[in-house]
Amino acid sequence: MCGIVGFTGTRQAAPVLLDGLKRLEYRGYDSAGIAVADGDRINIAKVKGFVQNLADMTHDGGDIGGAVGVGHTRWATHGAPNDVNAHPHMSSDGRFAVVHNGIIENYAPLRQELTKKGYVFLSDTDTEVVAALLETYYDGDAKRAVMKTAARLEGSYSLGVVCLDGTGRLFAMREQSPLILGLGVGENYFASDVAALVPHTKNVIYLDDGEFAELTPESITVYDVRGRAVEKPVSRVTWDVEAAEKGGYEHFMLKEIMEQPACFKATVEPRIRNGRVEFEDFHLTDEELGRIRRIVITACGSAGYAGQVGRYVIEELCRIPVSVELASELRYRNPIIDEHTLLIVVSQSGETADTIAALKECKSRGAKTLAIVNVVGSTIAKLADHVIYTWAGPEIAVATTKGYTTQVAVLDMLAVYLADRLGKIEREKYDRLVLALLDMPGKIQRAIDLNRNIKKLAKKASAHNQIYFIGRNMDYAVCMEGALKLKEISYIFAEAYAAGELKHGTIALLEQGSLVVTLACYEPLLEKTMSNIEEVKARGAQVLAVAQEGNRQILKKADDFILVPRTEELFTPIAQIVPLQLFAYYVAKERGCDIDKPKNLAKSVTVE
Ligand code: G6P
Repeated sequence: MCGIVGFTGTRQAAPVLLDGLKRLEYRGYDSAGIAVADGDRINIAKVKGFVQNLADMTHDGGDIGGAVGVGHTRWATHGAPNDVNAHPHMSSDGRFAVVHNGIIENYAPLRQELTKKGYVFLSDTDTEVVAALLETYYDGDAKRAVMKTAARLEGSYSLGVVCLDGTGRLFAMREQSPLILGLGVGENYFASDVAALVPHTKNVIYLDDGEFAELTPESITVYDVRGRAVEKPVSRVTWDVEAAEKGGYEHFMLKEIMEQPACFKATVEPRIRNGRVEFEDFHLTDEELGRIRRIVITACGSAGYAGQVGRYVIEELCRIPVSVELASELRYRNPIIDEHTLLIVVSQSGETADTIAALKECKSRGAKTLAIVNVVGSTIAKLADHVIYTWAGPEIAVATTKGYTTQVAVLDMLAVYLADRLGKIEREKYDRLVLALLDMPGKIQRAIDLNRNIKKLAKKASAHNQIYFIGRNMDYAVCMEGALKLKEISYIFAEAYAAGELKHGTIALLEQGSLVVTLACYEPLLEKTMSNIEEVKARGAQVLAVAQEGNRQILKKADDFILVPRTEELFTPIAQIVPLQLFAYYVAKERGCDIDKPKNLAKSVTVE
């Protein structure tokens, strides 16, 4: 969703801001803008559509002078996506320009109050009240105006403010929406995402809720709500700028699919020491472990589907009841959660609004909480009692791939770890599973190599208007993610059905030539899945089977097939999803879709 950048230094700010905005494009947005203080005025350029439109309009920023500024990509919430509602928003006296991520929940009464006092608003946004409040509270001290303004705001926000008081000052404020400060030499930065900072610096400070920062070219000072300076640790970003670039691939999604063997390895290997699974930040005492009666996994989108795989593996190995709950439902359901629940939240970004709310809700009910997160220092990582990071590196394509497989990797490891701690797994099986986890990067690579013909299958599939995915047990869990990938990026209606449920309704939809992707890797139920293949074929459907190498029975029956290597049974979902990601990718490519930035979707859904 929205993205924020800020820069203060001695060189021209606009090109730096535009470069930062380009690096945030992947989050999803509908308009873009920059504001730069230059002498006694703030120059603003903003436009509906792509950052490239803004770059064209300003000759790559060359037309905009000044060395202190802010930039924004907007994903519309309050007010249509147009030039006027695009950020930055300026106060009517021209002293402040503001960019904002999140939602100011009390903007309506504030707007009313300020209108009564004679303030004239130009846009429909909630953000403009911030500019108006800053103007109202300014008495020659910008820091005081920022504090007084923050005290009036309710909701979630990260704010970037450029202030025209002759000092070249920027302010950055955070409340439940990410904001990271970047420390340079003779220049400083902020951004809502590390991706915009890494070209300049790897030294960053993560702001906490309620804090705000004052930036000049030489200094960054962080304050708490009351304006008292706070000592903040400086963290080092571990990845390079190349990690957030395409590296020769046509799309980020393809690059990220291909990175999966390496990401899986980076996530798993460091956590296996002397043949034992060990997590750096997940220590349950025997007493805490003994208290757990059930596990609830909560998340949104693909992270929830990773949880679905995790459910099968944890239940199978640990014999603890596991449920997977949509965070958007769990948060409002008065859930039965107490100190006997281990809540696992799964999130690539660590910033998904519903997942954060569900985590808070369950925490307040006494659950022990564990987060599986990719983005270091994110809100969810900070809120949970424990965090296990997925070391996938930056994921830029909106449709997650390596984020998902590394989430499944952590859940698999966690299952093995908990089973051992609970005394539910024999040594021999434990050792076998640990070895199989270490072996998975090679299997993922093999799953990619086995399907070099997938473009042909994708071409054939691209003509369909709907595609059904069926499977049983863990195969069903993978169906959910496979169907989601396809619909997200190709806009083909794709749904996952538990194969045993077909007869109870969905089979009525099948007709001559319908395409049914059938996942058939879960060995204990293969005979059942075979019967489902017969059923759908009898109705004239085409079957594209996802089957393990050498499974002649399935290959004979299917019209087409995607092959996956044989793996330890519990880990087949990882090998299966990778060719399905490629399938979705090539179908979308065949249909000429904007693969990395599908319409209407955002990478990180930071509003409800
Ligand atoms: C959005 C993204 C999905 C993602 C979901 C949850 O919908 O487009 O790819 O699975 O949010 O995001 P999270 O960052 O919490 O994993």
